[in-house]
Amino acid sequence: MARTVAILGGTGPEGTGLANRLARAGEHVVIGSRDAQRAQEAAKRLREQIGGSTQIGGTDNASAAAQCEVAVLTVPFSGLTALLKQLKTAWKPGTIVIDTTVPLAASVGGAPTRMLGVWQGSAAEAARELLPPGVGIAAAFHNLGAALLAGGSQPMATKDGRLWLTYNGEIFNHVDLRKDLERAGHPYQTRCDTETILYAYREHGPRSVTLFRGMFSFAIWDKDRRTLFCARDRLGIKPFYYYWDGDLFEKRRKFMDA
Ligand SMILES: NC(=O)c1ccc[n+]([C@@H]2O[C@H](COP(=O)([O-])OP(=O)(O)OC[C@H]3O[C@@H](n4cnc5c(N)ncnc54)[C@H](OP(=O)(O)O)[C@@H]3O)[C@@H](O)[C@H]2O)c1
Repeated sequence: MARTVAILGGTGPEGTGLANRLARAGEHVVIGSRDAQRAQEAAKRLREQIGGSTQIGGTDNASAAAQCEVAVLTVPFSGLTALLKQLKTAWKPGTIVIDTTVPLAASVGGAPTRMLGVWQGSAAEAARELLPPGVGIAAAFHNLGAALLAGGSQPMATKDGRLWLTYNGEIFNHVDLRKDLERAGHPYQTRCDTETILYAYREHGPRSVTLFRGMFSFAIWDKDRRTLFCARDRLGIKPFYYYWDGDLFEKRRKFMDA
């Protein structure tokens, strides 16, 4: 039987991004909201964006919680306690709840750079107090930015299909680099640093690597020139494995182990 994943607070950037990724991976996703209509509209936008036979629906948070096997909490920390109190009797036994909440001071009107102290230790440990017996809790996705979830599927290609990129890592100065690349006319379609690598390479060629600050490991295939350019960060933080049999290139560890 197909599993249903509910994304509570799924109308926001983090929840929509997770719904996008989970639905693309074939999960049956239900977006939850305080307003069922808002959830349905968010689900419709995602269905149109993803296409195919994507299974995404939308409903109020309590109905979403009641019908899922896995629920992901993507509401601001300030709303977490009230939401879990409201859902206390909604869950099915055996449901796994995944908490993405970061207790940022900003969620209660404080500074964006400060974290709130949580008496139980973490937002997920606080959430556990508000779940009935038989419902499990895990903490995850705290460091997974909504901008990354919204786009950046790989391999990523330039619009003309000439350059193809596969990449792992993070380019810390990608927002600054992006400004110059957009000024140079490169047509960004996501907010993702993956696109910055692609367009920096198109603009500067192999020299682009000297512009990147961060940790990365990537390969770019130039379809017209039939060249493959591979690079790794200076300290080798991101591993780079490759397999080459004269025909097929593959950078995942899985292939190396096979
Ligand atoms: N944004 C990121 O890059 C990122 C990364 C990692 C983790 N996170 C964590 O993920 C969570 C969501 O982040 P976000 O940026 O998507 O947040 P957000 O846009 O502020 O809120 C997400 C959704 O939560 C609902 N909501 C807002 N206030 C609420 C309240 N008081 N009670 C119940 N529901 C409420 C809203 O949906 P409805 O009005 O439709 O109910 C809203 O669309 C946060 O806890 C954040 O710390 C975010």
